[in-house]
Amino acid sequence: NETKTFTIAAIPADGVGQEVVAAGRQVLDTLADVSGGAFNFDWREYDWGSDYYAQHGVMMPEDGPDQVKDADAIYFGAVGWPTVPDHVSLWGLRLRLCQGFDQWANIRPVNFLPGIQSPLRRADDTHLDWVVVRENSEGEYAGFGGRNFSGRPGQGQVATQSAVFTEVGCERILRFAFELAQTRPGKKVSSVTKSNAQQYGMVLWDEVFDRVAADYPDVETESVLVDAMSAKFILHPEDLDVVVASNLNADILSDLGSALAGSLGLAASANLNPERRYPSMFEPVHGSAPDIAGQGLCNPLGALGSAALMLDHLGLPDEAKRLQLAIEDTCRRRVLTPDVGGAATTVDVTKSVIDALA
Ligand code: NAI
Ligand code: MG
Repeated sequence: NETKTFTIAAIPADGVGQEVVAAGRQVLDTLADVSGGAFNFDWREYDWGSDYYAQHGVMMPEDGPDQVKDADAIYFGAVGWPTVPDHVSLWGLRLRLCQGFDQWANIRPVNFLPGIQSPLRRADDTHLDWVVVRENSEGEYAGFGGRNFSGRPGQGQVATQSAVFTEVGCERILRFAFELAQTRPGKKVSSVTKSNAQQYGMVLWDEVFDRVAADYPDVETESVLVDAMSAKFILHPEDLDVVVASNLNADILSDLGSALAGSLGLAASANLNPERRYPSMFEPVHGSAPDIAGQGLCNPLGALGSAALMLDHLGLPDEAKRLQLAIEDTCRRRVLTPDVGGAATTVDVTKSVIDALA
């Protein structure tokens, strides 16, 4: 029996990204160990991020994408540190990979775990489970715009930031959402826009949504404005199944969703290139958390949930399920970091997940 080797590019980057990627590597190696030689991971770790920037003046080398393009997947931590302007660090590393590798679908499950208290009282006795599908290649994060008169601070600087919506971009993410909904019990897609105020791009999105929906008659649909959807997340979350939205709107809604599920530290995410022409990238939703970095207190479960999404993508759905059950087992036994009301460390939680797997 031959062992299948997966090459994984690990990019921990900044702050708690370092701690949670280390946790994920241990957990994934444990899964490989208990697979009885069915598969293993060949880790290639890259030291890109804000420290790299301090030394080299760039977040990653010019040929960075070339260095990781043949990996089976990228396992990412978080980028951003007070020493580098956030737009420089984000565009110089994370967005360069997401956009360069055409990872146009960002999947962010809102996962209500056992033993974790949600700020929503309704969560106590209602089954809640939805997933945010984020358009990840254009929209508000297309990087279109400019600044003028920046040499005259306080004297009338001008900046524009345009959102870009293409018919191709809208159609592919909307179809992705419908196909995902077909695999889920809820079979519903909620499309989120702000097309009353943004009458060009978002109206195009709405039109493509209606056209695409006709191809999926088995899937229930609704169109909701983003402000109303933010209220709905809190008031009627049991009505949600697949929520598809533009880059910015889904970014905001997914943080709201993870807070409702108990903590930003729990939320997992996959940046997918569904055509598999380039590697996909798996990362927790949270950032580098400078306020708690280096203390061993960050919650690794968002990164571990992202590892489960990566296993699924690598064609190991049983292992993905197994890891998800180990995460649930750890929560049920209340081995929890302080962000979810416990006193365990990152290492304690990681060890508990490993024990549940082994
Ligand atoms: P953040 O997600 O780093 O932190 C927000 C709050 O959540 C903080 O109170 C933090 O302690 C808490 N938190 C985050 N992750 C946690 C975890 N694993 N366990 C327990 N608590 C956790 O967002 P913030 O503070 O706005 O940004 C910090 C830096 O991260 C900035 O430089 C920002 O640009 C960057 N960032 C990077 C992202 C990425 O790489 N995907 C996403 C969001 C922010
Ligand atoms: Mg975000």
